[in-house]
Amino acid sequence: MMTIDQRLHRVVYASRIRDEETTPEEDLVARIVDSARRNNPRRGVTGVLVHGNRAFAQVLEGRPLVVRGLLAVIQRDPRHTDMRVVKLDVVEERIFPNWSMALLRDLDEVPVEFAAGNASLLMLMRLRTLLHTGELGA
Ligand SMILES: Cc1cc2nc3c(=O)[nH]c(=O)nc-3n(C[C@H](O)[C@H](O)[C@H](O)COP(=O)(O)O)c2cc1C
Repeated sequence: MMTIDQRLHRVVYASRIRDEETTPEEDLVARIVDSARRNNPRRGVTGVLVHGNRAFAQVLEGRPLVVRGLLAVIQRDPRHTDMRVVKLDVVEERIFPNWSMALLRDLDEVPVEFAAGNASLLMLMRLRTLLHTGELGA
């Protein structure tokens, strides 16, 4: 039986790099992913960060309180702004169980590791739609 402790939250949000931010996008993203890969494993957080054209779309998966806390930290991060949470679901399974934080550039080919799973591939497509249109799509 599933207990409350085992619940997972999956949150999807979009944001954009602040206009005042002068660090090149690639460097900025590299630093962010360094933090994520250092911190997320011990917090049991998994997910993916898609970026392009100075915009972000991210999925965070983990225990409800952990995800909520991390989201609050990320929201205060001065490197980006205009954060919009577009989806928050209680889920039973992770879409990205093997990624402390996968990174994908908007127009890159989808790595073969992702193509193995329909759910992850679908989510990546939706994140790209979110980057382009501001909406998550079907
Ligand atoms: C778009 C975006 C996504 C981020 N994702 C994560 C993340 O998944 N995990 C994380 O620990 N920090 C993430 N951060 C960085 C946090 O805002 C914060 O800088 C960091 O957690 C601080 O920890 P550190 O001092 O260990 O680097 C993200 C920041 C941005 C702008």
